[in-house]
Amino acid sequence: MKFYTYNIQELSNEDYQKYFLMMSPQKQQRVKKLRFEDDKKRTVAGEMLARKAIAKFCYINESAIVFHLNEHGKPFLKGLPCHFNISHSGDLVVLAVNNEPIGIDVEKVRSVDLAVSTRVFTANEAEQIFSSKKPYETFFMLWTEKESILKCIGTGFSHNKNYTKSDFETIQFKIQEYFISIATKK
Ligand SMILES: CC(C)(COP(=O)(O)OP(=O)(O)OC[C@H]1O[C@@H](n2cnc3c(N)ncnc32)[C@H](O)[C@@H]1OP(=O)(O)O)[C@@H](O)C(=O)NCCC(=O)NCCS
Repeated sequence: MKFYTYNIQELSNEDYQKYFLMMSPQKQQRVKKLRFEDDKKRTVAGEMLARKAIAKFCYINESAIVFHLNEHGKPFLKGLPCHFNISHSGDLVVLAVNNEPIGIDVEKVRSVDLAVSTRVFTANEAEQIFSSKKPYETFFMLWTEKESILKCIGTGFSHNKNYTKSDFETIQFKIQEYFISIATKK
């Protein structure tokens, strides 16, 4: 498995244009509709990171890569021995490339309404958050773990409760104020 990070503030205008033009017309339209410049940069930086890393992983030209989307919007590759997943939060874009299905999630630790915990997490997980000395850290540790598993499956949040945690292996770590989780099937 290969893991990459990128700070969107380092994205030059030249690279923005280059990778925007490599996107599918549908993704270009999606970027055009984004209101905030940083949201546009996060999406273009993800495209750049993915093309560069997949090209290296598969020994192909980055402009030859065609992204397909599953019915829940997860991008995947056809005919290449390579799986990947992108995530972005704040200034950070992260990418994992693997030869088996993979999911990644990054979240900047921040204060949120912890009441959502009872809706999103199991009773045990919610209890872990409410009894923690650092509840926001615990919240985002569990949140990124869940998201990375859902992103590995490819169903996204629509299937929030339809998985068995023990079927997955997750690696979790922090880079400055960002929590990152990477999930693969056992
Ligand atoms: C679609 C979803 C994966 C979006 O997650 P997110 O946390 O908003 O966004 P991330 O930055 O982590 O990931 C976005 C990237 O994931 C990829 N992606 C999109 N749909 C995906 C899916 N169904 N499965 C896996 N990856 C997906 C794309 O590459 C996307 O990047 P792009 O928009 O630049 O092309 C989904 O899980 C979702 O709807 N989440 C809502 C957030 C939420 O309520 N989470 C609660 C969980 S505790």
